[in-house]
Amino acid sequence: MIIGIMKQRQSIMEQKKLEIVIEDNPIDNVQKTVGLALLGLGTVGGGTYRVLTGQLDEIQKRLGCRIEIRHILVRNLKKASLRVQDSRILTNRWEDVIEDDGVDIVVELMGGMEPAYTYIREAMERGKHVVTANKDLLAEHGPTLLELALNKGVDFMFEAAVAGGIPIIMPLEKSLAGNHLTEIMGIVNGTTNFILTKMSEEGMDYREALIQATELGYAEADPTADVDGLDAGRKVAILASLAFHCPVYFHDVHVEGMSMISAKDIRYASQMGRTIKLVGVARDTDTGVEAYVCPMLLPKSHPLSSVNDSFNAVFVHGDAVGDAMFFGRGAGDLPTASAVTGDILSIAENILHGSSGRIGQLLYKKRPMKRMEDTYNRYFLRLHVEDRCGVLAELTEIFARYEVSVAQIIQREHQKDDLAEVVVITSLVREGDFQTAIEELSYRTSVKKISRMIRVYE
Ligand SMILES: NC(=O)c1ccc[n+]([C@@H]2O[C@H](COP(=O)([O-])OP(=O)(O)OC[C@H]3O[C@@H](n4cnc5c(N)ncnc54)[C@H](OP(=O)(O)O)[C@@H]3O)[C@@H](O)[C@H]2O)c1
Repeated sequence: MIIGIMKQRQSIMEQKKLEIVIEDNPIDNVQKTVGLALLGLGTVGGGTYRVLTGQLDEIQKRLGCRIEIRHILVRNLKKASLRVQDSRILTNRWEDVIEDDGVDIVVELMGGMEPAYTYIREAMERGKHVVTANKDLLAEHGPTLLELALNKGVDFMFEAAVAGGIPIIMPLEKSLAGNHLTEIMGIVNGTTNFILTKMSEEGMDYREALIQATELGYAEADPTADVDGLDAGRKVAILASLAFHCPVYFHDVHVEGMSMISAKDIRYASQMGRTIKLVGVARDTDTGVEAYVCPMLLPKSHPLSSVNDSFNAVFVHGDAVGDAMFFGRGAGDLPTASAVTGDILSIAENILHGSSGRIGQLLYKKRPMKRMEDTYNRYFLRLHVEDRCGVLAELTEIFARYEVSVAQIIQREHQKDDLAEVVVITSLVREGDFQTAIEELSYRTSVKKISRMIRVYE
């Protein structure tokens, strides 16, 4: 009789796990344990360990199952032993993880291409679910890994890979699924946003702002991936793929850095009612997908223009939702751990409900990628010309030949060398045509120097 009641109760529990949490002592009633292995115990791995262990009771009550960290894979066991409560869970042997049937979810937080790529594939092949924060890997192999996860019926989640703590992947996959998204753009690199904020608000030059970003730990010792736009480019590839349901790789994204932006550009932009930000933009147009990262002038009224310091934000436009913006911390141990933990709990819930592997065909479309010269933008152009009558007419005549019209203009006399500095913002023009107009301008003797060309978002 008692066994019968227990069996009946167990089956009700299996069907309706959520009801378990309202019982007095939920964990004692639940047999199921979800086993985890963390690969890496650095910034994000360490943060994830702290969030998971700090909130374990709460998490287990909410899920109605036990969560067990069975292994943490590192290279340096001694260093890692200072960061965990029980160093017996540390290992430097991948075999300990992959051969353990008690590991349900592998959480890859090592970074880099290899061995991360191999470990993730091996985990999926063995039916283990995977969470990763690895944007470099996803921008190269994301579509292949999504397909493998689909074939193996396992979950594959990567919320932390784009904009750290900001929930954007889940909204793209689920909450905004009823939309046809036509544009996604964002400030997805905190280091460069910090530098540009310091240049705008405190008048610092690029070098000064970079030094401060390094001192505060926002910039790496080698900041190339950030300031050259590579980090943002990888995130744009991931965002564009999910927003438009077609594979977009890092090599498809046109990438330009921000280190040439000067305090002077920022001052002129401000006089013209705009802010300069390093943004990633992806659009789904009638003629294909365009994806690029570059410094851009944003109108001061645009929500992204007030995203300052090391904050990140992603701005989405859909046919049903209209405009929506997601804002928060794009990096750091705990913000990123927050996203990783969210993924772990979603997967644990799927395991409990027997509903894993519902990845679906996320990237089911084939779309051509547009060349940068076929995109349309407005442009900010700063140049030095001879300070005499007729030079502006020469400029506008060349522009007119390529259907470029001038929307805004500032002219400043140069005291020393009889030159005038001219700054214009053009109307919307095809990039290839604008480049040809600029080339033609550069041959004119009246044009002494073309100092800057920055795209303008409208
Ligand atoms: N940091 C952030 O704010 C942030 C934000 C979003 C996404 N991410 C992504 O998160 C991932 C991790 O970044 P992180 O900043 O946490 O890196 P990290 O601080 O350098 O930590 C890397 C960890 O992985 C371990 N590891 C590296 N290679 C290994 C190998 N071959 N075998 C075993 N263990 C290995 C390291 O162990 P040892 O110390 O023993 O070498 C270390 O514990 C990266 O993909 C990164 O792009 C980071």
